[in-house]
Amino acid sequence: MRSYMKTTAMALALTVAAGVAKADGHGVEVLHWWTSGGEAAALNVLKEDLEGQGVSWTDMPVAGGGGEQAMTVLRARVTAGNAPTAVQGLGFDIIDWANQGALANLNDVAAAEGWDDVVPAALQQFAKVNGVWVSAPVNVHSTNWVWANKSVLDANGIAVPETWEDFTAALETLAAAGVTPIAHGGQPWQEATVFDAVAMSTLGPDGYQAAFVDLDPEVLGSDAMREAFDRMAVIRANVDENFSGRDWNLATAMVINGEAGFQMMGDWAKGEFLNAGQTPGEDFLCFRFPGTQDQVTFNADQFMMFDQGGSVSSEQAALASAILSPSFQSAFNVVKGSVPARTDVSDADFDACGRQGIADLAAAAESGNLFGSMAHGHANEAAVKNAMYDVITAHFNGEYDSETAVEELVLAVEIAQ
Ligand code: BGC
Repeated sequence: MRSYMKTTAMALALTVAAGVAKADGHGVEVLHWWTSGGEAAALNVLKEDLEGQGVSWTDMPVAGGGGEQAMTVLRARVTAGNAPTAVQGLGFDIIDWANQGALANLNDVAAAEGWDDVVPAALQQFAKVNGVWVSAPVNVHSTNWVWANKSVLDANGIAVPETWEDFTAALETLAAAGVTPIAHGGQPWQEATVFDAVAMSTLGPDGYQAAFVDLDPEVLGSDAMREAFDRMAVIRANVDENFSGRDWNLATAMVINGEAGFQMMGDWAKGEFLNAGQTPGEDFLCFRFPGTQDQVTFNADQFMMFDQGGSVSSEQAALASAILSPSFQSAFNVVKGSVPARTDVSDADFDACGRQGIADLAAAAESGNLFGSMAHGHANEAAVKNAMYDVITAHFNGEYDSETAVEELVLAVEIAQ
């Protein structure tokens, strides 16, 4: 009863403040794929924030890194006419749902809270479709990071690698010392995540844009792309024999435990190190994949608000508003490993990796070196992304050589469009 009254009072306040519909009284049902230890810790920050405002939370977790399984569940729910209130979404998937008319209009909340002025343009292109805010950006992640166990590197005299050659030398040293050089989980989205960074390093920023965003067949089939596949083969030669099917957070655990030297993964991996009580600079290191120090391949988690048959509910508005509040943006992203989705949030509470992430993002946006991640749905629509996944994974698993991989890539992308 008490929480119902709180909900009603809050709903009324929001109705007045932002001109949204009345409370539907059902709280929010939130579909997401944040199921690892670090992810769950971050999600709790949001749950507690909302529950503190009297909005009840129904959790709908769908395990599976990168969100593919969550998107399958979402499609089934929408087809059954039973869309969840709020759904974690990425890039082109958000645009797709908006174009299907499935998402509620958040313009009143966005206007009342000035989102236009504080959310970076790179994120607005996925949050605001045809002038309508359809989702609330939670964070900015980026994929071109490497995570390392500091004592393993120190014990083997390895400094942070600056170039691909430094990196391969480090891999050889670790292999000779009997340490698994690279912790990897053999799932297509993880291979594509690694490929984001590897391809950026061989193609350079213009080539990345041409290949993954503009889908230029010449660049997709270029020598530089073949070189990217050759580098993937080197990475494949440096993973342990049990990599197949392993979840990303279990690969992170191998670096945390000192079983492996490096993991190439987005900065959600940092959430696992923190959740294990580790500190950057002391226990683990974060650095940009060699050759991509000036670039950022980003993906932003957002919560799409599904239209529940009318205007946005006050609970949806409350969730959107909570997500965009500067204090939440700091508290959540400090735990998650990502950086704020607003440009005006202080980095004071962030650790060294977080501060680097914030600075890198601003610098990359300024210098034209910020690119939507191919692997995480920010470079192209799902059909193209999945076509790329298939080729990258088939090559990684030795189904064909690099020469054939570039030919397959050109073909697969052409068919997917
Ligand atoms: C999401 C992250 C998530 C990661 C692993 C990415 O697509 O943006 O929030 O932690 O997948 O599941």
